[in-house]
Amino acid sequence: MKKGIIAGIALLGVMALAAAGCSGSAGATSSGGAKSDKVITVGFAQTGSESGWRSANTESMKDAFSAKNGFKLVFNAADNKPENQIAAVRSFINQGVDAIVIAPVVTTGWDDVLKEAKDANIPVILEDRTIDGSADLYKAWIGDDFKKEGETAGAWAAKSLGAQATNMVVLEGTTGSAPAIDRATGFSSAIKGSQIKTLDSQTGNFTRADGKTVMEGFLQKYGKTINLLFAQNDDMGLGALDAIKAAGLTPGKDIQIVTIDATHDGLQAAADGQFNFVVECNPLLGPTVAQTVKDVLAGKDVPKSQTATDQSFTPEQAKTALPDRKY
Ligand code: AHR
Repeated sequence: MKKGIIAGIALLGVMALAAAGCSGSAGATSSGGAKSDKVITVGFAQTGSESGWRSANTESMKDAFSAKNGFKLVFNAADNKPENQIAAVRSFINQGVDAIVIAPVVTTGWDDVLKEAKDANIPVILEDRTIDGSADLYKAWIGDDFKKEGETAGAWAAKSLGAQATNMVVLEGTTGSAPAIDRATGFSSAIKGSQIKTLDSQTGNFTRADGKTVMEGFLQKYGKTINLLFAQNDDMGLGALDAIKAAGLTPGKDIQIVTIDATHDGLQAAADGQFNFVVECNPLLGPTVAQTVKDVLAGKDVPKSQTATDQSFTPEQAKTALPDRKY
């Protein structure tokens, strides 16, 4: 069966589940649900505004937690500083919000503040990223499978370049964040046994600016010996394009590039032949998170984890997908 047909069937399956109100699959359901008179106040501790993916995720959350859906949203973006985010969660507890949603900057350091939320009887829902703390401290997690994303990216690299000696550099996401950890694990396991060698791997903090700076450093150090770039998100890959072009090299040809997110800009770079493969990370989690908050507050059982469905794109597939891309 052709890939497009399979993707179509998968999408129909997700839509059918959403229409039936079933859970277990996130990112494509409709928000809202039964109307209630009481406005639900929700504190949302977002990581920051580091990437195009993050902007799309914030917009999805703000739309889903709108006044018309029965919510009052107290929004905080932590500038990717774990201490800011913990302070924001403490402030939500002090304000006595009905529920707290967190997209954790890093996986560690959550036990104390989540215990405080539990003691105050405020349910916590994790969105996007996971934590290392005890699962008793939060009600549910809704997000994407980062390890699988890394595996998909790595499988492409192993298949396309793994049979010949290949020198790779890696732009990592925020150090200590779940996507940086899990994408690295997934990618490494997929290229095991191939001839891909990691020359260097450094954080670009999921931003274009740092992606460019770190790639400039890689190019100064390793020059034309670099054959492959794995950027753990589109934005770092997009920043790296500038560095590669400035070094007189052609992205997508002299250096093959695989990225994760599949934002509009990432898919455009693929359609233009500058990215060779892009793995999707669906940011449109708001409706599923909002429904989960309503269900938790209504005392219903909710799935502990709900995972969005992600696809991947070759340059040809990116061209086809771009006109209808929502983010
Ligand atoms: O947690 C998801 C990651 O965070 C996205 O890949 C990245 O773009 C973002 O900032």
